[in-house]
Amino acid sequence: MREVPEDDAPARDEHWEAVYRERGPRQVSWFQADPLLSVELVEAAAEGDTSAPVIDVGGGASLLAAHLTGRGFTDVTVLDLSKEALEISYHQDVTRTVSFIHGDLLTWNPERRYRIWHDRAVFHFLTRPGDRAVYRAVLRRALEPGGRIILAAFAPDGPTHCSGLPVARYSAEELAAELGDAFIVTGTRTEQHHTPAGAVQPFTWITARLR
Ligand SMILES: C[S@@+](CC[C@H](N)C(=O)[O-])C[C@H]1O[C@@H](n2cnc3c(N)ncnc32)[C@H](O)[C@@H]1O
Repeated sequence: MREVPEDDAPARDEHWEAVYRERGPRQVSWFQADPLLSVELVEAAAEGDTSAPVIDVGGGASLLAAHLTGRGFTDVTVLDLSKEALEISYHQDVTRTVSFIHGDLLTWNPERRYRIWHDRAVFHFLTRPGDRAVYRAVLRRALEPGGRIILAAFAPDGPTHCSGLPVARYSAEELAAELGDAFIVTGTRTEQHHTPAGAVQPFTWITARLR
């Protein structure tokens, strides 16, 4: 796998396209046939309102969007750098109601607001403080007042790299600190993700509400 130069956004784009093309969406280490915990946490954040706008940032080819529409969610968006992954996601959603945004989260200018922001295994690739500050700014612009974030990153005993890229690893306290005072933490979880190759990857999950 090619290494991505730190400042090279187009290379980041090509990197992820190549990952999905070369490995296939069901062989990548983060694949989940049933994104149970994500669905549970999105449903809890929605508090019974399936019209709540949900965005899965860096959602890739995840089955989360299809599971949410299958459970009655009517306003689901997936944003990702990889066109290949979004094509796969499109075909997984039998309701054809999911919206797709092909682009880089770090240069994205949200045109509307969402009640729920879901990020599984994307934030942890932001190893530079400046990129994390940009992420927070985009998050604040994209969320409704009182909106929720569901954030999952590798735990302190998780892998140091994913797909050839270095990652930052977090405890729940560290993720809360990254979100800052604008958010009130509503829950934390730890999870052992089993990769398709049989490895175990510890994740830290945090849910929080924008004040
Ligand atoms: C480890 S995968 C996780 C995919 C998905 N969240 C899941 O749990 O199945 C990381 C995803 O983030 C996307 N990604 C990485 N950096 C991104 C960025 N700056 N903007 C948008 N998407 C990005 C990749 O294309 C990839 O689909």
